[in-house]
Amino acid sequence: MIDLRSDTVTRPSKAMLEAMFSAKVGDDVFQDDPTVIALEEKSAAILGKEAAIFCPSGTMTNQIAVNIHTRPGDEVICHRNSHVYYYEGGAMMRNSGVSVCLLEGDRGQIRASDVAAHINPDDIHRPVTSLVEVENTMNKGGGSVYLYSNLAEIAEVCKANNLKYHLDGARLFNALAETGESPLKYAGLFDSVSICLSKGLGAPVGSLLIGDKTFIKRARRVRKIMGGAMRQAGYLAAAGIFALDNNIGRLKEDHTRARYIGAVLEKMPYIEQVLPVETNILIFNLVKRFSETEFLSRLKEKDIHALPLGPQSVRFVTHLDFTDSMMMKVEEVLYGLKH
Ligand SMILES: Cc1ncc(COP(=O)(O)O)c(C=O)c1O
Repeated sequence: MIDLRSDTVTRPSKAMLEAMFSAKVGDDVFQDDPTVIALEEKSAAILGKEAAIFCPSGTMTNQIAVNIHTRPGDEVICHRNSHVYYYEGGAMMRNSGVSVCLLEGDRGQIRASDVAAHINPDDIHRPVTSLVEVENTMNKGGGSVYLYSNLAEIAEVCKANNLKYHLDGARLFNALAETGESPLKYAGLFDSVSICLSKGLGAPVGSLLIGDKTFIKRARRVRKIMGGAMRQAGYLAAAGIFALDNNIGRLKEDHTRARYIGAVLEKMPYIEQVLPVETNILIFNLVKRFSETEFLSRLKEKDIHALPLGPQSVRFVTHLDFTDSMMMKVEEVLYGLKH
């Protein structure tokens, strides 16, 4: 089976499983699991922040951040297609009672001028704007990478208006692999950063929320309330440490394979448009006569699996378990599709 549905489909390697198997564990609710502590310290150091908290998912790290940075009734500014709004089941509204101000923007990216223009005035009729959220890379924007200068300009707007600033960095390391920047550069910009271990980095479970000590202390309480406090979580944290140590350096391979398939698709008569391929997410549109359902079922007959994104639109995501020989197979199948 060739699975291009997501980079979350990877299975732990033998070496990762060995690291998990030999982990030293404790009870993380009592904060005495040494492997969880090591992972939290390691990830905070990578981002140049004071502290971190290990959580079961990226949805939870995002939701904890929203919960701490806002009060019920406040408004969050984010892109219309951001994961925190579009793909988290309305959790911001349900868990934190906030409303949203949804911005447009090329390939899922918001701009500082737009943020500034949408901060509500101090007027009792309007919700209080308290948080700005960005996503890098931007999933529904085709894995697009923000320019650091754009993120820094948004940070200036946040500072000037006393707004908190959260980064959904589920695929931050994919972005950094492309720009060659150090994660340390990001520390000063954001009040909190979420990173995922279970996407391009290949761990089976886990995300980290990273920020200052006071913020992370509050995050421990919110994680508990949301039901995300785990016990011998060191077995999972060991996979996370392995992922950070071994799987960041190879992310560019995934990007190269995504670009290769993107170039193949560009040549196909049944393709209307391929979004620029910046990282490991490839979004493309089929011509009108070829529905996404039919395209995907034709691929499925060849045991290639991917997801629809809407009418005529399909997403491929490359990852650790997607090899060169699978890429060649996909190429062969794409050439063979007559439409
Ligand atoms: C950009 C982004 N943020 C957050 C998440 C949520 O992660 P999880 O599936 O671990 O809840 C995802 C999941 O794909 C994502 O793509």
